[in-house]
Amino acid sequence: MIVVTGATGHIGGELVRLLSDKGVTLRAVTRDPRRTPPLPGVAWVQADLRDARSLRDVFLGAETMFLLTSNAEDMGTLQRNAIEAAGSAGVAYVVKGSALGASSRSRSPIGRSHHEVETVLQGSGMAWTILRPHVFMQNLLDAAPTIAREGTVRAASGDGKIPFIDARDIAAVAAAVLTTPGHQSRKYVLTGPEALSYGDVARILSEATGRRVEYAAESAEGAEARLVAEGASRWMIESALALAAYQREGGPTAVVSPAVKEILGRPPRSFREFVRDHVSAFRGA
Ligand SMILES: NC(=O)c1ccc[n+]([C@@H]2O[C@H](COP(=O)([O-])OP(=O)(O)OC[C@H]3O[C@@H](n4cnc5c(N)ncnc54)[C@H](OP(=O)(O)O)[C@@H]3O)[C@@H](O)[C@H]2O)c1
Repeated sequence: MIVVTGATGHIGGELVRLLSDKGVTLRAVTRDPRRTPPLPGVAWVQADLRDARSLRDVFLGAETMFLLTSNAEDMGTLQRNAIEAAGSAGVAYVVKGSALGASSRSRSPIGRSHHEVETVLQGSGMAWTILRPHVFMQNLLDAAPTIAREGTVRAASGDGKIPFIDARDIAAVAAAVLTTPGHQSRKYVLTGPEALSYGDVARILSEATGRRVEYAAESAEGAEARLVAEGASRWMIESALALAAYQREGGPTAVVSPAVKEILGRPPRSFREFVRDHVSAFRGA
C-alpha cells in the first residue's frame, strides 16, 4: 500500500494514474476529494497535512509514502507533519519530491525549505529516495493564457539555458522508484533532454502555434513588480528572483542529467513534444 500526497497536482495527478495502470493499490491524499477521478485501485482520502489529527488513519497499514506539497511557505511544516505521521504509523519508505539545488546555502527559500525536509527525512529512520527536478515545462501552461493573448513569454532568466522537464516524466520516475528495487538512499537530479533559453522557448512556441511569440526578458525589478501585481507571496517572490538569478549565471542550472533515461530506459520528453501535446492551450483555445 502506497500513500500518495500531492495527488491532485501536476506530478501527483499523473503519478496516481500511472500507479493505477500498473495495478498498484494506493491511498491518494487531497483536502477536497469531491473533484477527484475514480481510478482502479485508488482510494481517495481527505486529509490536510496542516492538521496532524486528520493524518491519523491515512498511513494505517501503508508501507510507502510519496511526499509532495505545493510551492508555498508552509511546505516545510506540512511535509514534516507527514513524515512524523508516516513514521509513527510504521511506514518504511518515503520518496520525496524535492527541487534542483536543495541546499541549506540556497539563495532560494524553496531550496532551503526542501533541504530542511530532506534532512528530517534522512534522520527519520525510514528508507528514502529524493527526487530533485529542474523547472517544470508545465509552469509555461500556467502562463499559456498570457502567452496566447500577448504573444510574449516573460522571465528574468536572461539568456540562461534551462533543461526544463515535463512533470509527466517526473511522475513516471516516481512510479518506477516507488515500485522497483534499487533506489533507496539515492538523490536523483531530474531534467529534460536539452537546455533551452527562454528565447528558444519562444521560438519553439512560435513554430508550433503558427503565431509569433517573443521572449520579453525582464529585469529582476520588472519580474518583482509583475509577481507583486499577480499577488505572489514574499516567500515565492524571493524564491523566483533567486532562481532566475541562478539561471542568468548559468553553470549548474544548465546541466542535463541522465537520470530520467537511466531509470525509465527512454529519454525524457522534449519541449517540442510538450508543446505539441498542449498546442491548443498556447493558441488560447
Ligand atoms: N514548478 C516547478 O518548476 C518546480 C521545480 C522543481 C520542484 N518543484 C516542487 O514541486 C512541488 C510542487 O509540485 P506540483 O506542481 O506537482 O504540485 P501542485 O500542482 O502545486 O499540487 C500541490 C499538491 O499538494 C497538495 N497540498 C497542498 N497543500 C496541502 C495540504 N495542506 N494538505 C494536503 N495536501 C496539500 C494539493 O492537494 P489538494 O489541493 O488536492 O489538497 C496538490 O495535490 C513543490 O514542492 C515545488 O517546490 C517545482
